[in-house]
Amino acid sequence: MSYAKVHAAGISGVTGVLVEVEADVAMGMPQLVVSGLPDAALHEARDRVRAAVVNAGEEWPQRRMTVNLRPATVRKQGSSFDLGIAVAILGGAGRLPLAALDGVALIGELGLDGMIRPVRGVLPMVMAAARAGLTRAIVPEANAAEAALVPGVRVKAAASLNAVMNYVRDGVELPAALPAGTPDARPRLDLADVVGQEHAKVALEVAAAGGHHLSLLGPPGAGKTMLAARLPGLLPPLDDTAALEVTSLYSIAGRLAPGAGLIRQPPFQAPHHTTSTAALLGGGTGLARPGAISLAHRGVLFLDELPEFSRSALEALRQPLEEGSVRIGRSKDLVSYPSRVQLVTAANPCPCAKPGGDSYCECSPTVRRRYLGRLSGPLMDRIDLRVELFPVTSAGLFAVDEPLETTETVGKRVVEARNAAAERWRAYGWRLNAEASRSALRLAPAATADLRHRIDTGLLSARGYIRVLRVAWTLADLAGRDRPVREDVATALTLRLGDIR
Ligand SMILES: Nc1ncnc2c1ncn2[C@@H]1O[C@H](COP(=O)(O)OP(=O)(O)O)[C@@H](O)[C@H]1O
Ligand SMILES: [Mg+2]
Ligand SMILES: [Zn+2]
Repeated sequence: MSYAKVHAAGISGVTGVLVEVEADVAMGMPQLVVSGLPDAALHEARDRVRAAVVNAGEEWPQRRMTVNLRPATVRKQGSSFDLGIAVAILGGAGRLPLAALDGVALIGELGLDGMIRPVRGVLPMVMAAARAGLTRAIVPEANAAEAALVPGVRVKAAASLNAVMNYVRDGVELPAALPAGTPDARPRLDLADVVGQEHAKVALEVAAAGGHHLSLLGPPGAGKTMLAARLPGLLPPLDDTAALEVTSLYSIAGRLAPGAGLIRQPPFQAPHHTTSTAALLGGGTGLARPGAISLAHRGVLFLDELPEFSRSALEALRQPLEEGSVRIGRSKDLVSYPSRVQLVTAANPCPCAKPGGDSYCECSPTVRRRYLGRLSGPLMDRIDLRVELFPVTSAGLFAVDEPLETTETVGKRVVEARNAAAERWRAYGWRLNAEASRSALRLAPAATADLRHRIDTGLLSARGYIRVLRVAWTLADLAGRDRPVREDVATALTLRLGDIR
């Protein structure tokens, strides 16, 4: 036999692509020509495959070998094709019967020693195999549980090229992988842990119900981080499509714990203010790693200590926030990852950050003004809800009041409000009030009289006007009204202008 064909898989953007690996083995000058891979990846793959084959105890065929990866138009990043290339070569050289690999996707990087090493993105790759009608996959051991999450594909785990050859030649079974059972290891944080800060909790509920961005301003220890971390718990669990999308992003980032199941809880990412722009947006050589903004996709991106972030980092976040996707890399290798996040920012009112709040502040008025000034700008302009928190008092902390509302109770109201909004906007294709556009938001003049006055006196921008209306609709949804009344608009306005002193 001089020709062989196997299935492999790679990644394009956030989706997997099934790839055909063909090998033609002919008489002639011994050499290996690989086409259909980018140059850099090609050289490395060729060296790895050769060393792995030899170290697996096989003779390297002294033939003219041509390997082609199809479709050629798909940009193939990463090292997941090694296993397919090695097996196709051995098949083409007549060393391996390939009948057992009909309908099997081969995924894995080869070590020089012939071991199969884990790769990033196995989940979307196996999903691609399933879409193409394949029912079996052989993947690296460390990725097996993740691969087994895909319905309809039987997954086997292979530790080495030898193990695959023994399976193909002699039917030595490879271990079957089972989908992991533990869905989300994250502890569930409850809203009832937060004492006081009632208006901030209301804002958090409104944010969850309408998909609005939220900013929290207040002294250290007031509970800003606590509140932000409790937003994902108020959001409904991810549906099947979203769960696969989010889990795929974590798979591509290499951030799925071995044995972890599908991600069902909306993610929470809190990058430190010193995080590089590349780590916020994503990047890196080979298969680009999704950044914090994509790891927060369909969840919450928390920017704690917002004024400490560099201007350039905040500027870089603006477009992905607006567009819901982030483009990474230079023009030739551009990839795009989704980045539909709900933003929560937190800030201290001044750089000295005294826990007791303003009465202990040592900053001059100029310093305070300059610090707060960093809270303006294009990013802040997109934030619908702005809340100021005050220091928690001991009276508040130790009060034996009626029990505080739990995440479960508030979460139920959030789901009802979201359902009402999704129902209303169905014809427009929106799910959240935060997505609604101006014409659809229009209200009777009586409800918006105060707003119009503010615009006419220059106190509210046109953009601000739309954002206030969106929040007013969310308040109405939470209250079970079919449209906002004047009071909803007034509350929305307070929430929008809230903390800017
Ligand atoms: N409102 C609150 N209710 C209960 N505990 C609080 C509250 N605010 C702060 N704490 C306590 O103080 C710690 C620090 O709160 P944190 O949320 O990090 O404050 P901030 O982010 O505003 O600086 C929390 O871990 C918690 O133990
Ligand atoms: Mg904090
Ligand atoms: Zn200060």
